[in-house]
Amino acid sequence: MSNLEGKNILIGISGGIAAYKTPLLIRQLVKRGCNVKVVVTKNALEFVTPIVLQTLSGNKVYSDMFEQYTEVTTEHISLSAWADCMIVAPATANIIAKYANGLADDALSTVLLACQKQIIFCPAMNTAMYFNKAVQRNLEQLRQDGTIIVDSDEGFLACGTSGKGRMANVEEIVKQIEDYFSLKKDFQTKTITITAGPTREKIDSVRFISNNSSGKMGICLAEEFIERGAKVNLILGPSAQPIPQNDSLNLIRVVSADQMYNEAIKYADSSDIIICSAAVADYTVKDIFEGKIKKKNDTLHLDLVPTKDILKELGKRKTSSQILVGFALETDNELENAKKKLESKNLDLIILNSLRDFGAGFEVDTNKITILDRLGKENNFSLKPKREVARDIANTIKTFF
Ligand code: CTP
Repeated sequence: MSNLEGKNILIGISGGIAAYKTPLLIRQLVKRGCNVKVVVTKNALEFVTPIVLQTLSGNKVYSDMFEQYTEVTTEHISLSAWADCMIVAPATANIIAKYANGLADDALSTVLLACQKQIIFCPAMNTAMYFNKAVQRNLEQLRQDGTIIVDSDEGFLACGTSGKGRMANVEEIVKQIEDYFSLKKDFQTKTITITAGPTREKIDSVRFISNNSSGKMGICLAEEFIERGAKVNLILGPSAQPIPQNDSLNLIRVVSADQMYNEAIKYADSSDIIICSAAVADYTVKDIFEGKIKKKNDTLHLDLVPTKDILKELGKRKTSSQILVGFALETDNELENAKKKLESKNLDLIILNSLRDFGAGFEVDTNKITILDRLGKENNFSLKPKREVARDIANTIKTFF
């Protein structure tokens, strides 16, 4: 039996010649027991007819043709909620650009924006368009946002040339959908607590000490584990990043290192896996000034006292069935320092990133990591979007089960 049996798959078709292959994709999915619904753009209907799509999917086809009926105005929400996964095949440069920039001006782009499930894009276009910098930028943005891209193939193109840009073949698209669903549930029984973002240590009523952490890496980890079936407690310091709404996510907002410590301890016992990705302040202000400190023409001294090391405390309390993962952001003697932290904090894994590596560290969408384990094994990964880094980390943790 296929792992796609009973899955609700929503297919979006945009206006490219490769749309002629989409009925074959629908056929393959229906054969594997999927329920398929289709949303098309006006231009897609130049390449494939609604009657073919309706006959093969066994369902009504949604497009802007139905705009005159009021039901379609809310249907983008119900269609998105119905789907277990959404595929855009073919995905033209236009729909890629619209989705990467959050535009919604027709049925397909509106359904896409309303969709909170996994979205898979299958780009198809002429080679020159495919390699256009704007298209590559938009594809990169989609990857960073967690969209799976089934990359185009090389080969003969409809415009008479040969090169990259042809939609991936139907078997490859089906395989990637199957891979997604088989990956999806591998953390289903697990509860994961993640600390993320910076902390803020108050100086007076208006000022604080903090750092440049955006919280992106921890949020990407939360997204990855939720997608793979886990329940996630995300203990997040002050971060401006958007947080996806999900029933499996328990978001706990904190401000100071002390609050983060208390929440982490509270959730630790009930967690199978704990990942500390937060950039926690190592020092806090000894006496917080009531009101605002007034300016004086003199040196200002602040007494700083150490905060509690959350990760170290969790390492002391760790049970034999728990997996504890820390991060180490280093500027020099990277490996040596990371190994020391792995030992001294009693961790199972440490994720090292060096500020010397281009594209790694705070406030960027990418990261370059090395994962170290207790047996001294080092695994180096290339520079990737943080969403893919989260997948590498989850895959490494999975080897413990
Ligand atoms: N950490 C923590 N609580 C703290 C300080 C750090 O939980 N008070 C965690 C971080 O979330 C990270 C790991 O410890 O997972 C390492 O943090 P890092 O700042 O690299 O190291 P420190 O232990 O603070 O040591 P140093 O600042 O000297 O490098």
